[in-house]
Order: sequence, then C-alpha cells, then structure tokens
Amino acid sequence: MIARRLSLVLISLLPIAAFCQQQGEKLAPYYPTPETVVEKMLQLAELKPGEKMFDLGSGDGRIVIMAAQKFGADATGVEIDPDLWKQSMDRIKSLGLEKRARIILGDVLKQDYSSADVITVYLLPSSNDKIRPLLEKQLKKGARIVSHDFEFSGWTPEKVEHIEDDGEGRSHTLYLYRR
Ligand SMILES: C[S@@+](CC[C@H](N)C(=O)[O-])C[C@H]1O[C@@H](n2cnc3c(N)ncnc32)[C@H](O)[C@@H]1O
Repeated sequence: MIARRLSLVLISLLPIAAFCQQQGEKLAPYYPTPETVVEKMLQLAELKPGEKMFDLGSGDGRIVIMAAQKFGADATGVEIDPDLWKQSMDRIKSLGLEKRARIILGDVLKQDYSSADVITVYLLPSSNDKIRPLLEKQLKKGARIVSHDFEFSGWTPEKVEHIEDDGEGRSHTLYLYRR
C-alpha cells in the first residue's frame, strides 16, 4: 500500500523533474553588451551574409538582431530566461526578421552548434569552462568564436581587441578563436 502511494507520488513529480532538467543551470546574470561593442564583436568574427551564427545566452537578443539585420547572417540565440526569450522574440517579429533570426528557449549546454560558422558568448570564465568541451566536440573546422571579456582557458586567441571606452566609460576585451 505504502509502496503504491509512493510510486504514485513519484510519477506525479516526473513532469516537474523533466522541466527542471530541461531548464538547466543559469551560467551568468543578464548584463547586456553595449551596441557599439556588439558591432565590434561581429566585425572581429568577420561575419558574412548567409553565415550561421549563435549567441550563447542571448539576453534581449541584441547580438542576434544585429547579426541578422546589419550583417545578413542566419542568427540564433539561446536564452534560458523566459522573459528575455519573449522580449527578444517580440523584437525579432516587430522588425520582420523571423526568417533570419530566432531565439531558442533553453540551455546553452544542450544545443547543437555543429552548423555554426560563428559563435558569440558573454558569460563567465566558469561558464566558458563548461561550454568549451561541447564546442570542441561539435564545432566544424574554421568556425570562429568571439568571447566578450572572458577568455577560454586552454585555447589560444587568434586576436585580442581592447576597447578602452565604449562611450559610457566602460572598457572591454574581445577574444577571437578559430577551431
Ligand atoms: C551577460 S548576459 C549576455 C547577453 C547577451 N549575449 C549580450 O551580450 O548582450 C548572459 C545571458 O545568458 C543567459 N544564460 C545564463 N545561463 C544560461 C544557460 N544555461 N542557457 C541559456 N542562457 C543562459 C542569461 O539569462 C543572460 O541573458
């Protein structure tokens, strides 16, 4: 009797467990890249029209939107926060960019990046450590990765760009890697 009740309770908890598992771990807080720096990230990556780019932890979607709108890329963001996901999808729709831009509501550690030409990332050093094995496994040869402010340990950057003042008194460092 007790075993039956226990199994019923466990079964009723399965959808919650599945949801929690899907949610994943929040790897960094929301802290947007200034638009001027977004453009420099995409220029550093030499993003070209039609190329596939992914922003890992896409926030309000500003990198994805600029990649699609200004660089003509096929742009995908991955965002774990449902409010930011909705906000960025609404903006993509209002700009009529749905064919070239989209945001996946999900965990950056559970996606397939094998088609990516360019990856942009602005997370934390510990997050980069978690993402690195996935990118090493999935990315095709020649794919470029631009990381804002935080290096990938164990990788040697092809270029490092320092921005002394973004116009609001903040400095930034961009790291370009090539697989
Ligand atoms: C520092 S913000 C960068 C936002 C945007 N890429 C930019 O540069 O403006 C990091 C973003 O990553 C998201 N994030 C954190 N952990 C995540 C995860 N595991 N999967 C997807 N997104 C995540 C946060 O919600 C936040 O929006």
